[in-house]
Amino acid sequence: MPQKILVTSALPYANGPIHLGHLAGAYLPADIFVRYHRLKKNDVVYICGSDEHGVPILLRARAEGVSPQEVVDRYHAVIKKSFADFGMSFDYYGRTSSPVHHQLSQDFFRELAAKNTFRLKTDKQLYDPEAGIFLADRFIRGTCPVCKYEDAYGDQCEKCGTSLSPRDLLNPRSAITSAVPVDKETTHWYLPLDKFQPELEKWIAGHPEWKTNVLGQIQSWFKDGLKDRAVTRDLTWGVPVPDGSGQDTAGKVLYVWFDAPIGYISATKEWAQEKGEPGLWENYWKDPETRLIHFIGKDNIVFHCLIFPAMLMAHGDYVLPQNVPANEFLNLEGNKLSTSRNYAVWLDEYLQKFEPDALRYVLAANLPETRDADFSWKEFQARHNNELADILGNFINRTMTFAHSYFEGKVPAAQAADAADRDLLQRLAEAPARLEKLIDNFQFKHYVREFMDLARSANKYFNDKEPWKTRKSDPPTCAATIHYSLQLARSLAVLGAPLLPFTSRKILDMLGVDQMPEWDQSGQPGLSAGQVLGETKILFGKIEDDLMEQEIKKLQTTAPAAPVAEAEPENLISLDDVRRLELQVAEVIAAEAVEKSNKLLRLQLKIGVEQRQIVAGIAQHYPPAELIGKKVIVVVNLQPATIRGVQSQGMLLAASDGEKLAVLTVDRDINSGSRIS
Ligand code: 2FM
Ligand code: ZN
Repeated sequence: MPQKILVTSALPYANGPIHLGHLAGAYLPADIFVRYHRLKKNDVVYICGSDEHGVPILLRARAEGVSPQEVVDRYHAVIKKSFADFGMSFDYYGRTSSPVHHQLSQDFFRELAAKNTFRLKTDKQLYDPEAGIFLADRFIRGTCPVCKYEDAYGDQCEKCGTSLSPRDLLNPRSAITSAVPVDKETTHWYLPLDKFQPELEKWIAGHPEWKTNVLGQIQSWFKDGLKDRAVTRDLTWGVPVPDGSGQDTAGKVLYVWFDAPIGYISATKEWAQEKGEPGLWENYWKDPETRLIHFIGKDNIVFHCLIFPAMLMAHGDYVLPQNVPANEFLNLEGNKLSTSRNYAVWLDEYLQKFEPDALRYVLAANLPETRDADFSWKEFQARHNNELADILGNFINRTMTFAHSYFEGKVPAAQAADAADRDLLQRLAEAPARLEKLIDNFQFKHYVREFMDLARSANKYFNDKEPWKTRKSDPPTCAATIHYSLQLARSLAVLGAPLLPFTSRKILDMLGVDQMPEWDQSGQPGLSAGQVLGETKILFGKIEDDLMEQEIKKLQTTAPAAPVAEAEPENLISLDDVRRLELQVAEVIAAEAVEKSNKLLRLQLKIGVEQRQIVAGIAQHYPPAELIGKKVIVVVNLQPATIRGVQSQGMLLAASDGEKLAVLTVDRDINSGSRIS
C-alpha cells in the first residue's frame, strides 16, 4: 500500500533571492526526501510557494521606493526560477498573494472566530508618530535584552536568535523614521496559546522520535508557558481581516505568520485545481493517514510545532504534522550569513557559474542536521574534485569508455560471477534498504556518505579486477567485470537520483535507459546483455583554484556578520574534527609477523567488500593466530604509509596502560564495514 505523504518546505519571503542557508535548511533535504519517496512509488505531494506578506516585504519596498506588489512579483519570479534550476521538484509552487490563498485564510480565520477561539484585546501598542503607523514586528528595532545587540528586530534578535516582542527591546526606535515610538491604543485578535498548551503537550509527547534540537526548543517554550499571540496587525499589506465579527476591521490584516502556513493548504488546493481535480487537496489535508512533514529552519520551529498546530487543532478539519525535521543554521566561511550585509552565496548567482548537482552534493554532505554547519569554497572544491569527479565520475567514465572501446558500445554478457563479483552484488542488493532507512529518518548526511562509499567500492572493484589485463588474458572475466560495472552504474544512478537528479539522468542516458527504474529494483541487476549504450559524457570536470579564489575574494569584500563562535580552548576539538576520522569495523582474516621486526604484525583485514593490509605494533601482545576472526576498529581514512617496507592502509585502534595492550573490538557481532559514529 503506497503511503500518502504531504511534504512542505517553508515558504520563503519574496523579499530577496534564495541563498545557500535557505537551501541547507528547508529545501534540499525536503527535495531528497520527496524524490526518494517518488522512486519508492509512494503517493507524495510536495508543496511550497512564496510568502508575500509581512513586514520584511514592506521594508524592502520602502527601501527601494516601489510598491510591495512590485517587490513580490519580482522576487517570486527570481526564486521560482532558481529553485527550478536547482532541481527542486515541487508539485506546486504557489504564492500567498493569490486569491485562493486570501479566501482560504479568511475562511480559516472566520471558522476560528465562529468557534470563539480568539481573545479580542484592546491595548496600547508602539506607534510611529512621524510615519503615522503602528510598529509591528520588524518595523521596530532596538537593543536585544538578551545579548545587547543594538540592531535587533521587534520579533527576533538576528544575533542571538531570541524570539522577541516589540516591548522587549531596549531603546526602541522606528525602523522607518528612527522616531522614538509612542503608545497608542488598538484592538487585535489573539490566539490563546495558553489554552492549547495541555493539548499541544500531549500531542508532542506522542512524538519522542522527533529531532532532539526540535524537541529541545519546544520544551523550553512549554517551560516558559505559552502566551497569547496576536494574529492580526495594523498594516496596509496582507490578507484583510474579514468582516463579520461586528468589530471594526478597517486597516487590519492577518499577521503574516497566521496566513503563511495556511499557504501550504491553499497551494495544495491550487495544485488540485490545476490538475483538474479540485477536491483532491482534501484527500491529503483531511485524511488522518496522511504523513504531513514540514521541512523548516530552526527559526521557524515555534510556528510549525506550536502555533500552526494550535490553529489546526482549533479548526479541526485538518491533519497535524507527523514530523517537523528542522535544521540548524549554515554559516559561511566561518561567519554568520547575513542577507542585509549581502554576506551570502546567492543561488541564482551560483547557478550562472556552477552545476546544481555539485552544490546539492556538497551541501547535503554537510547539512546542519544536528548543529550549525559551515560552507566553505575550499570544501566545495575538494568534495567536487575528490569525490564527485574522482570517484563517481571516474567510475562511470572508465566503465563507459571500456564498454565502447572493447564491447561495441553494448552491455557484454556475464557468463559467471566470481567471489568478488558476488560480494559486490551482495553489497548492492543490501544498499536500497540501508539507504532508504537513512533518508526516511532524515539522516541525509549519512545517506550521502553511504552513497559515495558505494561509488568508492565500485571504483575499487574496477581497479581490483583489472579489466585492461583480463581483456587479453581472460576475456570472459573481462566481460563479466564490465557487465557488473554497468549494472553498478545503473544502481548508482537510481540510488543517487534523490541527491543528484541531473547526474542520475545523464548516467541513465549513457546506459541507454529511458525510464527511471524504481527504488526497490535498484539493488538488482537491471541491464540486459546486448543492450545498446548511449554516448559517454564527462560528468564532472575539475574546478580550478582560480575560480574558488574569485568566490572567496568576493565574500571578503563584504563585511561578514558576527563570527560564529568564540575561539575554543586549544586542547578541545570540534565535533567536525571527530567526524573527520572515519572509523570502521574490520575482520582480521590473516596475520603474520613482519620480517626482521619483533613489534610489528602485518594484518589482512576485511572491511565490508574491501580488503586491506595494515601494519600494527602489537606483536609483543598478540600471537598472530589469536587475532584471526576478531572484529577490530580501524581508522580507514589515514594516508597510506610504508612501514619497514610493508604498505599499511589504515590504523588499528588499541588501548594501552603502558604495560598491557588491548585491541579495541566490538561487544557483539556486527558486519565488517560497519561505521563507527
Ligand atoms: O522564515 C521565513 O522565511 C518565513 N517566510 C517562513 C514561512 S513558512 C510558512 F509557514 F509559510
Ligand atoms: Zn540578542
